[in-house]
Amino acid sequence: MVIAPWNSRFATGIDLIDAQHQSLFEAVNRLAEAFKAGHAKQQVKASLDFLVGYTQEHFQDEERFMREMDYPGLAEHRGEHARLMEQVRDLQMAFEEGQPVAMDVAIFLADWLREHIHGSDMAYVRFMKEPRQK
Ligand SMILES: [Fe+2]
Repeated sequence: MVIAPWNSRFATGIDLIDAQHQSLFEAVNRLAEAFKAGHAKQQVKASLDFLVGYTQEHFQDEERFMREMDYPGLAEHRGEHARLMEQVRDLQMAFEEGQPVAMDVAIFLADWLREHIHGSDMAYVRFMKEPRQK
């Protein structure tokens, strides 16, 4: 079930980031799929855990990238990442406790990713592509 189709409008032009964003969309879709197909909790959990872990890894890479180019919006952007991780971890905990939130996580992350890539990620991409004086 593809709830988050990849679209070239999400492309930043930075290979590593684009590859990771695409993988994130795929992971969101796999989680939705696992849930919709009625897979056993253990399988849904594996998809959910992968998605959460991969999101964390991607954020770390992105933050390192922004640090390396002295991006002035780093603190704010990190804040957005941290808040998202907090919300996702709360949902992950709810899932562990047996609440049926797997689909909520997938939809929440799909919406969040779309908005975040178009807004905050594109902002650092513009900054990166700006000509700078040496
Ligand atoms: Fe980001």
